Amino acid sequence: MIDTISNLRAMVDNGEALSSQLKKVAFRPRARKKLELTFGPGRAADLIGRTPEAIAKAEAKGRLPQPKIGSNGRRYYTLEDLTLIRQALGIIPGKQSHEPAVVLAVQNFKGGVGKSTITKHLADYLSLQGLRVLVVDCDPQASTSSLFDVDQEALWASEETLAHFLAPTAPLNDFRLTIQDTAWPTTKIVPSSLGLGEIEWHMVAGAEGRQEIMRRFGLLRSGISQVRREFDVILLDPPPAMGFLGMNVMAAATGLVIPVPARQLDFLSTIHFMTNIADTLESLQGYDMGVNYDFIRVVASNYSRSADGETGMLRILQQMCGTNMLTNPILASEEIKNSVQEFRSVYESDKPISSHKTFTRCRDNLDLVFAEILHVIRQQWPSTSLTGFDDRHLLDGEAA
Ligand SMILES: Nc1ncnc2c1ncn2[C@@H]1O[C@H](COP(=O)(O)OP(=O)(O)OP(=O)(O)O)[C@@H](O)[C@H]1O
Ligand SMILES: [Mg+2]
Repeated sequence: MIDTISNLRAMVDNGEALSSQLKKVAFRPRARKKLELTFGPGRAADLIGRTPEAIAKAEAKGRLPQPKIGSNGRRYYTLEDLTLIRQALGIIPGKQSHEPAVVLAVQNFKGGVGKSTITKHLADYLSLQGLRVLVVDCDPQASTSSLFDVDQEALWASEETLAHFLAPTAPLNDFRLTIQDTAWPTTKIVPSSLGLGEIEWHMVAGAEGRQEIMRRFGLLRSGISQVRREFDVILLDPPPAMGFLGMNVMAAATGLVIPVPARQLDFLSTIHFMTNIADTLESLQGYDMGVNYDFIRVVASNYSRSADGETGMLRILQQMCGTNMLTNPILASEEIKNSVQEFRSVYESDKPISSHKTFTRCRDNLDLVFAEILHVIRQQWPSTSLTGFDDRHLLDGEAA
C-alpha cells in the first residue's frame, strides 16, 4: 500500500522545484485582451441617451470633441469617447456620488446554471451604458476572472488577493488593493486566485464564538463597504455551494438575481435553494447580521423554446415567482456558448462567431433582459427614481 500523504507531498515538492520552469511554459507572455469596440453615430447616441442629431449639433457648437472619421468617411466613437461625451453633456447614467452602489449577487447554489456567463455579460452591458462596475469573483473556479482575461501569473505571488483579504488572520485589510483594471474603461475586477478555495476550509476550522463567526461571515461585506460609493454596481459571482464563501456573498449582497434553467430538476433544486436562502438569512439574523434584500429577481437561463418541456416549465416558474420573475428569459445561444469558449462576452466583438442573425438575436435578447435588471437597479437610487431617468434624458436631449 502506498503512503498517500508522502506520495502527494513528494509530487508537491517536485512541482514547487519545477514551478519556475512551468511558469515559463504555462504563462508565456502574450497579448492581453484589448477592446477595439467602435460605435456608429446611431448606436453611440442610443447608448448615451440622445439623438444622433443632438450629438452632431453639440459637436458643431464645440461642446464636444471632434469625432473620429473612419475610412468610409463616417463618424465613429470608442468607449472612451462615450465617457467623454457623457461627461461633457453632464449625463450621469448611474447613481449620485452620495448614494451607495447596488451589490448584486448572481446566485444559485446549483452549478452550471449560467451564473458566471450572466455576471460577465451583465457587467459588459452595464459598462456600455456608462455605469461604473466592480465584479468580485468569489468562485475558486475563476470562470469570470478568465472571461475578464485576468493575469493569473501576476496573482501567483501576489499578497493582494481576495484570498488574502478573506483569510481568517487577515494579512490584508485594504480591500482596494485587491481591485484590478479590466479592458473595459469603467469596469474593475477583484479576481479569484489560487488559494481562495483553501480559505473556506480555514474559515470553518477554528471559528469559535458567536462574534468570531459573525465577523467571518461579514468579511466580504466589510471589504465592499470600503468602496461602495466608488461604483454604481458591484456584481458578485459566488461558487455553486453554500460554504463560507457563499455565506459571505449572501451577507454582502443587497439584491439577488437567480438564474434558473426551465427544466424540472433545476426547478426543484431552486425551491430547495430558496428554502436555503430563507434559512440562511434567518441564521444570519441569529448572528445579529440583518440581511434584507432590496430585490430578488429570478431569470430563466439558457432557455430554449424548442427543447422538450421548457415552455411549460417556464410557465410554472412564472406562476411560482410572480413579479419576482423577469419577463424575458435568457435564450440558449450558440453565440454565447462560442464566445465564452473564446473567453469573451458577446458584447466584446462586433463580429459574429456564428451567423449575423444568431448574433443579433442573441444581443437583442440579452439587451432586453439586462434592461429589466438595470431598471430594478435604478429604482434603488432615489435620485434617479425620483427624477425618472428616461424623462431626464429627454430633457437633456432637448437642451442639446
Ligand atoms: N444562454 C446560454 N446559451 C448557451 N450557453 C450558455 C448560456 N448560458 C450559459 N451557457 C453555458 O453553460 C455553461 C455553464 O455556464 P456558467 O459557467 O456560466 O455557469 P455557472 O452557474 O457559473 O457554473 P458554476 O456553478 O460551475 O460556477 C458554460 O459552458 C456556458 O457557456
Ligand atoms: Mg460560475
